[in-house]
Amino acid sequence: MADRSGSPDGVPCEPDKDRLIEELREAVRARDEFVAVAAHELRNPMTPILMQVSGLLMAARDPVRCRPELLAPRLELLEHAVREFVRRSTVLLDVSRIAAGNVRLELADVALTEVVRDVVDSASTAAQMARCHIEAELQEHVVGRWDRLALEQVAENLLSNAIKFGAGKPVAVTLTSDGSTARLTVRDQGIGISEQDRVRIFQRFERAVTRGEQGGFGIGLWLANQLVVAMGGGISVEGAPGAGTTFTVTLPLGGPRQAGASKS
Ligand SMILES: Nc1ncnc2c1ncn2[C@@H]1O[C@H](COP(=O)(O)OP(=O)(O)OP(=O)(O)O)[C@@H](O)[C@H]1O
Ligand SMILES: [Mg+2]
Repeated sequence: MADRSGSPDGVPCEPDKDRLIEELREAVRARDEFVAVAAHELRNPMTPILMQVSGLLMAARDPVRCRPELLAPRLELLEHAVREFVRRSTVLLDVSRIAAGNVRLELADVALTEVVRDVVDSASTAAQMARCHIEAELQEHVVGRWDRLALEQVAENLLSNAIKFGAGKPVAVTLTSDGSTARLTVRDQGIGISEQDRVRIFQRFERAVTRGEQGGFGIGLWLANQLVVAMGGGISVEGAPGAGTTFTVTLPLGGPRQAGASKS
């Protein structure tokens, strides 16, 4: 029988081949599952969107109900649902781009205070719907060399998680800077995360809740972490089951280059 343990011509030996096939099968299974979840997550928001559009159409055709004070709240709900849809689709696009090793940052001087304030404002409808009050304490003029869109996504993902898993209790957002590093914390008083899940949730498609409990792709934190690391920073998480969760993002004001320089 031929000796298959060596691979002088670069062809993998049998055990390696079996392992490779198993890994490929697992990757295809994970991809199929993700496609199913993605389709589900993109279809879900369409039901409330269609309901609002039908209601608005009926109101618009009825001269008695076609009044700004009746239409505006419905349009606000519609706007929220469409924004949520755009957020989910953007996340999907970013996942395929970043998974291919493509974190492209457009670095410029960005006022993080303004970015976080805008994200908190945009989350107000979602927060109201979850009966959650957001308290923001933001140091003024925290400016650094970062990518604005990436910062928006990081803040959006952390805040949407805090609202989603925050059990309707207040969420605190704080931003400070010590002159060299910006520190953004998002603290909720919700379901919390167990110690063994704290590392896992930063990986792609990993979730610590079931689909029945809460919807989601399981990629928001993975994405946020990739973007923060690309900007030279880091994300940490604290808390315990039932006692809420605090995510802390640290970002060097000088951006990725400064972080690289300080390492060497
Ligand atoms: N503030 C939080 N409190 C408790 N658990 C959290 C919190 N944030 C994240 N998690 C846990 O970490 C998991 C991963 O979070 P992540 O944001 O990546 O995914 P998701 O919110 O489930 O979906 P999406 O990709 O749509 O954001 C969540 O499913 C949840 O189990
Ligand atoms: Mg999330």
